Amino acid sequence: MKGGGGDKQGRIRAPLLQLESQLFRRVSVVVGCFLFVLVFLFSSRHDVAVLDTLSPKASLRTPAAETLLHSSAGLEVGDTTIAADTNGVVREAEPEEAEHHESNAAPSTTNSGNRATPGAAEETVQDNAVHVTAAATAAQPAMETTSSQRELPGNTGIITPRADSVDQRRRPPLCDLSGARADVCDFAGYIRLDANASTFVVVVDEDLPAGRANGTTTTAYKVKPYPRKGDVTAMGRVTEITVRATSNAEAEAAPRCTVTHDAPAVVFSIGGYAGNIFHDFTDVIVPLFGAARRYHDDVQLVVTDANPRWLARYGALLQGLSRHAPLDLAKAAAAGEVHCFARAMVTLRAYRELLIEAPEPASYNELVMPEFTRFLRRALSLPRDAPTRPGNATIKPRLLIISRRGTRRLLNADAVARAAESVGFDAVVRELDVSDDITQVGQLINSFDAMVGVHGAGLTNMVFLPGGATVVQIVPWGGLRWIARLDFGDPAEAMGFRYVQYEVAVEESTLKDKYPRDHEVFTNPTALHKKGFGFMRRTFLNGQDIVVDVERFRPVLLQVLDNLRQTGK
Ligand SMILES: *[C@@H]1O[C@H](CO)[C@@H](O)[C@H](O)[C@H]1NC(C)=O
Ligand SMILES: *[C@@H]1O[C@H](CO)[C@@H](O)[C@H](O)[C@H]1NC(C)=O
Ligand SMILES: *[C@@H]1O[C@H](CO)[C@@H](O)[C@H](O)[C@H]1NC(C)=O
Repeated sequence: MKGGGGDKQGRIRAPLLQLESQLFRRVSVVVGCFLFVLVFLFSSRHDVAVLDTLSPKASLRTPAAETLLHSSAGLEVGDTTIAADTNGVVREAEPEEAEHHESNAAPSTTNSGNRATPGAAEETVQDNAVHVTAAATAAQPAMETTSSQRELPGNTGIITPRADSVDQRRRPPLCDLSGARADVCDFAGYIRLDANASTFVVVVDEDLPAGRANGTTTTAYKVKPYPRKGDVTAMGRVTEITVRATSNAEAEAAPRCTVTHDAPAVVFSIGGYAGNIFHDFTDVIVPLFGAARRYHDDVQLVVTDANPRWLARYGALLQGLSRHAPLDLAKAAAAGEVHCFARAMVTLRAYRELLIEAPEPASYNELVMPEFTRFLRRALSLPRDAPTRPGNATIKPRLLIISRRGTRRLLNADAVARAAESVGFDAVVRELDVSDDITQVGQLINSFDAMVGVHGAGLTNMVFLPGGATVVQIVPWGGLRWIARLDFGDPAEAMGFRYVQYEVAVEESTLKDKYPRDHEVFTNPTALHKKGFGFMRRTFLNGQDIVVDVERFRPVLLQVLDNLRQTGK
């Protein structure tokens, strides 16, 4: 609980500080610790005003549409126990297959757990505490790790043992290990990245006697720059980076810079589950946007575990984020390079799937996530910012029905398409191939006004839709409502899309052919989640296909049309 609480506080404050860093920096040159308090108060209030005025997307949300469909689906609400077990995730090798796995769940679902069900959340938070306990003593509240504070004159202060609270205020730790999903190091100074050793050495004090910086007073952190902390499988594919402070005296021995950068470094791994579009976005692209946007495009991306195909596929987006070519750490290591910076951030902050910030304040995501979609459209030259308003018979809104292979297939996608045509859509059934060029995928998706898909990674493609488009998620049988919301529903709304969640009835699931009707799979699916994630995945996620009852689905199609009449142009 302790780690979680401090983290939560930090999450709220960090973005506010970033927005205000300009002002903050100027003021802080003049004032001492006393005025910090005043600056905080001022910057927070100011931000509230900014968020209010820049947050028009609230009007695009349609809670009524979802509840309508929820209530007719006959599902129980008690599906929250999966909070501790699951999360939307896919494997690199078989992106159309298993889209979930166990180990990453706890870190990434904590926040939602807090909101959805206090009971489940408590369990999750405790679970997190296990991960962070060892590190917790080194991590101060995140408010002390923000950029502006680092650039204070205090930056040249003394490396201190943790017990020294006065000095600790002046120098926050290089790394914050309290995050549920990622350990984040964010530091300034004379920074040398010894590529061969995957080590950042930060000279934090010029005057400190060398002996003081040695031994107990110097902190070295080992972090993996990928936001799936606690997920053994993902993190096993991520290179560890060492970050350590050193005194000037010791720094004499450190390797010399071969390249010096003016731009700050942002270091991230594309190991983990790279190659699956959901993971590419939720673990890398979205958090990277969150980290890099404040530098406009003057930031040096440093990539570890680089896969050339991945870099090629997402090259247009990386170029949109930085005018400098990404630095491949492995290549730099082979060349024996030492890169020097004045500022660096190792690992990306991540909180929930496909969102940049913690759920509170929600208004932050509602401000930044639409900006994220605008960034994508700009970077990929996607032409449409708004959907087409359904007009007369010659102007039909375009509906994409995403089909999946392997698991959770929509077996009657063609019938759904015909139903959509009958109410006035131009409907297309399409399978999206993960190897497609991202610009081509973006162009294709952007030509649609709405998207329908069964829960799965393919829904991630919604990010390319025109703003105000509608996303329909078909949720398979089995108490999966909650995870559907977490993975795609909440992000869709934050991005400024309309969202409709269609939860299938027993008759629409092929599970009905596998189990007798009085089986617990139907009478109490949520209880079965307690049997563990493996069981749940086999039974509910990978064990069924969907045959949508077209008549039951028709109101959804009409709802989408109605949305487009409101948001279309
Ligand atoms: C500090 O540590 C470095 C490297 O371990 C060593 O070379 C140096 O002599 C030490 N300095 C003192 C004063 O102990
Ligand atoms: C990288 O480090 C290893 C082990 O420390 C060393 O043997 C090798 O020569 C180094 N390579 C370069 C290019 O500096
Ligand atoms: C349909 O709308 C288009 C564009 O607004 C217009 O050019 C066309 O004449 C309209 N057709 C009918 C039948 O109203």
